[in-house]
Amino acid sequence: MLELQNITYSASDENGDKDILRDVSLTLGDNKFYVITGPNGSGKSSLAKIIAGIYTPESGKLLYNGRDITSLSITERANLGISFAFQQPIRFKGITVKDLIKLAANGPADKDMNADVCDYLSQVGLCARDYINREVNASLSGGELKRIEIAMTLARKSQFTVFDEPEAGIDLWSFNNLIKVFEKLHDETHGSIVIISHQERIINIADEIILLADGQIVKSGSKDEIMPLLMNGNIAKPGCSKAAAV
Ligand SMILES: Nc1ncnc2c1ncn2[C@@H]1O[C@H](COP(=O)(O)OP(=O)(O)O)[C@@H](O)[C@H]1O
Ligand SMILES: [Mg+2]
Repeated sequence: MLELQNITYSASDENGDKDILRDVSLTLGDNKFYVITGPNGSGKSSLAKIIAGIYTPESGKLLYNGRDITSLSITERANLGISFAFQQPIRFKGITVKDLIKLAANGPADKDMNADVCDYLSQVGLCARDYINREVNASLSGGELKRIEIAMTLARKSQFTVFDEPEAGIDLWSFNNLIKVFEKLHDETHGSIVIISHQERIINIADEIILLADGQIVKSGSKDEIMPLLMNGNIAKPGCSKAAAV
């Protein structure tokens, strides 16, 4: 279980200090599928980065299974089983797709993991033969990188995984595949999954929906409770300003 207690985060830009998260408290239980949604700029990615340990909150605490992890690094949190898939994936020069996925799977060094790597790649809709020996560099498109990152996350089998807008930059065919990946994760999961998304089809897989607006949790609850409100536009509608999409 991951508990966020009264998390506050601000950053400064040319216009001075800006409150990004304001007193966010949230409990994320085990083996559940959460979707965090909300307008662009509402603080979703910042919240994900606070969970992963990339941003440090100004005040408030994070407890993971009762242990205070607020001051732990990204690596320390990853070792505890908290894993994060970026909205904009990182390119790793000189490393092949196979190496990256093997690294994520953390299998024995002498184990030939080609079959596992191929399976993870095909799950995200990539033809393993074409990708397995490719270098993770600028020659891969954003959508390809995104899928490789999701394959890494599948290989990692973390207790707690956060995906930030996994649909970003992915074409429709791959998107249908992605939905299947998440449905499968939902059915088979032995951990919790938090997906940040604007997509109705992804939101629909959730057990629980958390709606963020202007750095605060506006509403959270079961999908059956929150989804009708989102659809009716009775509360701030997510993803309304497409033009401002990141
Ligand atoms: N490191 C930062 N420095 C300055 N402003 C930031 C920083 N990180 C996020 N922000 C600002 O905080 C707000 C929330 O950003 P973000 O968490 O990316 O929102 P979302 O993911 O919901 O679109 C935005 O206005 C963004 O510009
Ligand atoms: Mg974001």
